[in-house]
Amino acid sequence: MKDDSEKKLFQPINVGAFELRNRIVMAPVTRCRTEADTLAPLDIVASYYGRRASAGLIVGEGVQISQQGQGYYGSTGIYSDAQVDGWKNVTRAVHEVGGCMVPQLWHVGRVSHPSLQPGGALPVAPSAVLPKGKTLTADGSQDMVVPRALELSEIPGIIAQYAHAARNAQRAGFDGVEIHGANGYLLDQFLRDGANKREDKYGGSIENRSRLMLEVVDAVCTVWDKKRVGIRLSPLTNSNDMSDSDPQPLFNYLIERLNLRDIAFIHMVEGNTGRERDVPGFDYSAARKLFKGSYIVNNGYTRTMAIDAVESGAADLVSFGRPFISNPDLVERLRQDLPLKEHGTTHYYRGGEVGYF
Ligand SMILES: Cc1cc2nc3c(=O)[nH]c(=O)nc-3n(C[C@H](O)[C@H](O)[C@H](O)COP(=O)(O)O)c2cc1C
Repeated sequence: MKDDSEKKLFQPINVGAFELRNRIVMAPVTRCRTEADTLAPLDIVASYYGRRASAGLIVGEGVQISQQGQGYYGSTGIYSDAQVDGWKNVTRAVHEVGGCMVPQLWHVGRVSHPSLQPGGALPVAPSAVLPKGKTLTADGSQDMVVPRALELSEIPGIIAQYAHAARNAQRAGFDGVEIHGANGYLLDQFLRDGANKREDKYGGSIENRSRLMLEVVDAVCTVWDKKRVGIRLSPLTNSNDMSDSDPQPLFNYLIERLNLRDIAFIHMVEGNTGRERDVPGFDYSAARKLFKGSYIVNNGYTRTMAIDAVESGAADLVSFGRPFISNPDLVERLRQDLPLKEHGTTHYYRGGEVGYF
C-alpha cells in the first residue's frame, strides 16, 4: 500500500485564521437536499458533511442569501431562522469529528426563473441580458429568461443581504465564509462585460465592474474577522453563458484590491468549471503570485496533479468537487493512492437519501 503522508498535500496548514489538518478542500457542491417549505437542509445533510470532515476545509454548498438569490429548485439558503437551525446540525456534526467548514454565500442573479422568485418576479441582474441555458425548476429544466436590471437604489439592499447571511453563518456555527464570486452568478455577472452593460458606477470600467464584489467583501468583513473570509473566482469560465473581453487586467485589479482587504483565501476555478482546463486567455500563475493570502485551486484535479501543485508551490491547497460526492473518505484514498469510486450524475440535485451518502 502506498502512503504519501509526507507530501505537503497531506500536511497541516494555516489559512488566515483557519488551522487546517491537510491541504485538501471539499469544493462547494449544491445537492438540493432541503425541507420543501423552508429550504432548510434535511437531517441527512449533517451526516453527509460529517463523513467528509477529514478534508482540511469543507466549503459547503452555495447557500442563497435571499429568496431572490435562488436559482435551482430545492437549493438551500441561509436567510431564515429555520435554515440557520438546520445548518447548526451540520456544523455540529463536522466539528464533532474535528472538521472545519464555511458556507458559500450565493446570489444567482440572472441564473434563475420566475417560478423560483418571490411573487413570480423576473430574476435580477446587472443588465437585461438573456443568458443562454436552462435552470432547474419544479417542472424540470427550463430556459432562463431575460432578467430585470437592478436599479442603483436596490444595490445597498443586496449588500445588506450578504451581511445578514454572514451573520447567520456565525449563528449557525460555521468557521468563516466563502463569498461566491464565480461561475456566472450575480457577483461574476457584475464583474464581466459580457453580462454587465451598466452605465452607472457599477458598470463600464474595471473599477466599476469590481465595485459590487468589493463592497460585498467589505460588508462581510464587518461581520467576520477578515482572516475567516475567502472568495471563489473563475476568470475564464463560460458557465451560465459568461464571457469577458479582457479578463487579465480585470482580475489583476480585483486581486490587488483583495490584497488590501487582507482576506484569508482565493479559491480559483481554472478553465471552464467542471469541464476543460485548457482555456486560453488567463495566466493563473500570475494571479497566484499577485495574491498575498492562501491560494486554493480547483477543476479536474487528480491525485498526482494535486500533489504536484502543492509541492511546486503553484497552489497552497487543492479542492475537489465531484470526487468528494462519491468518495466521502477521499482524503484517505488520496493519501494511500486507493482507487476512487466513480460519480454518477443522476442524483446530483434530486432525491432524498438516494445517491446521497
Ligand atoms: C453537483 C455539483 C454541484 C455544484 N455546486 C456548486 C456550488 O454550489 N458552488 C460552486 O461554486 N461550484 C459548484 N460546483 C462546481 C464544483 O465546486 C467544482 O468547481 C467542479 O465540480 C470542478 O471540480 P472537480 O473537477 O473537482 O469536480 C458544483 C459541481 C457539481 C458537480
